[in-house]
Amino acid sequence: MKISNRTFVVSGGSSGLGLATVRDLLQGNAYVAVLDLSSVPSDLIADEGLSNNIQKRRLLYIKMDVTQEDQVESAVDRVVEWSKSTGAHLGGVINGAGIAAAELTINRRGQPHSTRTWDRVLAVNLTGTFHLTRLVAKHLVTVPREYQLLQTEGVAGKSKVAEGMEESDGERGVIVMIASTVAYEGQAGQIAYAASKGAIRSMTLPMARDMSRYGVRVVSIAPGPFKTPMTGTFSCPHYMLSLTTVFCSRAFLLPYYFHILIEDVFPLSFSRSILTINDK
Ligand SMILES: NC(=O)c1ccc[n+]([C@@H]2O[C@H](COP(=O)([O-])OP(=O)(O)OC[C@H]3O[C@@H](n4cnc5c(N)ncnc54)[C@H](O)[C@@H]3O)[C@@H](O)[C@H]2O)c1
Repeated sequence: MKISNRTFVVSGGSSGLGLATVRDLLQGNAYVAVLDLSSVPSDLIADEGLSNNIQKRRLLYIKMDVTQEDQVESAVDRVVEWSKSTGAHLGGVINGAGIAAAELTINRRGQPHSTRTWDRVLAVNLTGTFHLTRLVAKHLVTVPREYQLLQTEGVAGKSKVAEGMEESDGERGVIVMIASTVAYEGQAGQIAYAASKGAIRSMTLPMARDMSRYGVRVVSIAPGPFKTPMTGTFSCPHYMLSLTTVFCSRAFLLPYYFHILIEDVFPLSFSRSILTINDK
């Protein structure tokens, strides 16, 4: 889909894979609203070469917590107002906010897995994704279909209209959720995290079916391990990886390489769920 001059919501866009996505979208001339507990890196605008005032206005940061439904709702409302003021229609949401936590079913002291860890991981990774997605979706279904947008832009020349009509299938936008290879092959201690990612994986197809009638694609990406602040907290990550069969020698790529996955999302024009396993 065309990302230039469309508005995208990126939760968790201040760090790691979300931040890598924000950089890609800005480079593609999109408008990006980052929804995150932490602020965006101060050098982001300069780093992306967005020097003039118009370019700087392509980025909006909203401090919020995806576990708080009222904060999600007011953040989405703010983004919608922003998109009206810039004229850049909403184009989609990328759910990058997430946390990892490790806890055994029964720990070495004989204590069962805490409900606190379970509740927190599910609240951020699953319920946070659910709330942000449904509240963005409410607005996404009202934006003009892509061929209408291209027609509007092509008023100066008929050929532009014809070209747009040919290339577009009337898509309105895209919903991207981030699962993990852990949805398919969790490690010891990853019960809550694996449950949250497995649920993301499972909700993708029914949501894609729901949203297809509106011309909104729903995609889940299941990345292998990337080197981000989240995985920086893991102990013995390479040992953990050596215990698995899915994870591979190219593990702990830099977030920059996430664009290989996220870029695949935009040119497609049908709903699907993607499992990406790095090849050995
Ligand atoms: N890094 C990996 O190897 C990897 C692999 C597979 C899947 N993932 C998934 O990708 C997503 C991003 O992970 P990452 O590695 O970039 O992590 P990260 O820690 O670098 O970034 C996560 C971002 O989410 C924000 N965040 C956390 N809780 C929040 C909340 N309650 N409300 C709003 N913002 C919140 C953080 O402030 C941070 O900016 C997560 O869902 C993660 O599970 C990561």
